[in-house]
Amino acid sequence: MSLLTESPAWQALTRHRQEMEGVAMRDLFDQCPGRFPRFTVNGCGILLDYSKNRITEDTLDLLLKLARASDLEVWRARLFAGVRINHTEQRAVLHTALRSQAGRPVMVDGVDLAPEIYAARQRMGRFVKAVHIGNHTGYSGDRFTDVVNIGIGGSDLGPAMVAQALRPYHHPDMRVWYVSNVDGNHLNETIEGLDPNKTLFVITSKTFTTEETMTNARSAREWFLAGGGTEADIARHFVAVSTNKQAVRAFGIDQALMFGFWDWVGGRFSLWSAVGLSLALAIGNNHFDRLLAGAAAMDEHFNTAPFDANMPVVLGMLGVWYINFWESRAHAVVPYDQNFSRLPAYLQQLEMESNGKSVDRDGRLIDYATAPVIFGEPGSNAQHSFFQLLHQGSGVIPVDFLAAATTHKPFGDHHRILLANMLAQSEALMRGRNATEAQAELEATSPTAAVLKRLLPHKVFTGNKPSNTLLYNKLDPYTLGALIALYEHKVFVQGVIWNINSFDQWGVELGKSLAHTIRLELFAKPGTTTPTNHGGPNHGGPNHDSSTAGQIAWLSENQN
Ligand code: F6P
Repeated sequence: MSLLTESPAWQALTRHRQEMEGVAMRDLFDQCPGRFPRFTVNGCGILLDYSKNRITEDTLDLLLKLARASDLEVWRARLFAGVRINHTEQRAVLHTALRSQAGRPVMVDGVDLAPEIYAARQRMGRFVKAVHIGNHTGYSGDRFTDVVNIGIGGSDLGPAMVAQALRPYHHPDMRVWYVSNVDGNHLNETIEGLDPNKTLFVITSKTFTTEETMTNARSAREWFLAGGGTEADIARHFVAVSTNKQAVRAFGIDQALMFGFWDWVGGRFSLWSAVGLSLALAIGNNHFDRLLAGAAAMDEHFNTAPFDANMPVVLGMLGVWYINFWESRAHAVVPYDQNFSRLPAYLQQLEMESNGKSVDRDGRLIDYATAPVIFGEPGSNAQHSFFQLLHQGSGVIPVDFLAAATTHKPFGDHHRILLANMLAQSEALMRGRNATEAQAELEATSPTAAVLKRLLPHKVFTGNKPSNTLLYNKLDPYTLGALIALYEHKVFVQGVIWNINSFDQWGVELGKSLAHTIRLELFAKPGTTTPTNHGGPNHGGPNHDSSTAGQIAWLSENQN
């Protein structure tokens, strides 16, 4: 057993879990009319209702004891103070400093970075303005109409998700596109209708070495040159967002159009930095500032609210409750908002790349589960795909529902129907339909006894399926900033409990390096040698297992 699972706080939760076996949420609601106000938190324009969880006062109390016993307050202070808590990469974790509103000093190794952060934000703002007012134009003087962000992972998912979510706030004359996949169709289909003279490429890569991004960037440059641009025009049409000056220069991008950031900004936490440039071009500086302000408000909330009224702490600890004490291995995220459709994909990276770990901070193998599989789709679509499993499948899969009271574009009765569906789903998951209720419903259709007997088990919903609901007035930039920061801090809270480093991602390395080797072998002529297979034959050489070698051979032989 590990220190964590042996700890009194963990053991107390293990015992409590046994007590909660068979406790039905519907009974808890019936017994306590004040359950909703008791288990809701308000802050930063968001209402978090977590009353539809398998919890009592005792559960919350024990979960918060575990949080305290895990030194959550100490780790939170280290996070905000710029301590190098990403110890495997020797980096501070200071994305919160990027949205700080108070002009507070940001100390790293005794140096105040606040002026640098402010200057970078100003510089980015000036560029956005120059593009919007037509001071920075395409090579023949036309204004840019299209911005193509080329990046992947954290250099894509955050800005792409927010740009989609904030469509009602877009600059009317500016379209923004996100190309991430090295599948050439992604770039090709994005640019085929665009005018090179009116297209601005933002190459976003912290390292400026990521294969997918660099391949797409090179192809975009070729397309630009083939479409009428000259080498000299590249400086107007290609900007870089990166921490790697040398590589940016080597690619041919002018330093004047390079927007830097810092090694203490992790990829999946970077949308608040210049990585948000494409987004700022889409929504404008004021809305981008509101996004930062919303996130800053959530930082303040996380930093100061008592644990039992602290949204990231509550959400994080509820996750721990299900993952570690109810063997839950998945978590669904369902925004009832079509524009918010990329939230699940964004959270997949945020949660799974951060906390998908199985050694603790000291490198010891751990004996408890960590990040669940995050999945989701916008409601109400999701109701017609995976909700069957949520309602009647085996195991516990908590759901996060998100919705705005007000829609940006009212259209008939759509919004009311949308919200009614969300409310119905969370109620149905919680209450279920027991055998007596199911039988009564069936009997109303006057079935034969045989039909009744046959159908009854299929009509029962066990209920007691947990969910959190996040409500807000409107999905505006401020609220969205707060929501994203809420999830960031939830991930942090869980990483602290699990004693893992949430800020590295070594697990993505192996596949990347193998791909480099395989690339040289794939589609090579049979019988030839490559520099990577140590002189062995291609198509099934000694470097691969028979499955990989077989697939390399099959693909090479079957390519037209
Ligand atoms: O694939 C892992 C990863 O390193 C992510 O963490 C990161 O967000 C992404 O690749 C892109 O990296 P970069 O911004 O350096 O191109």
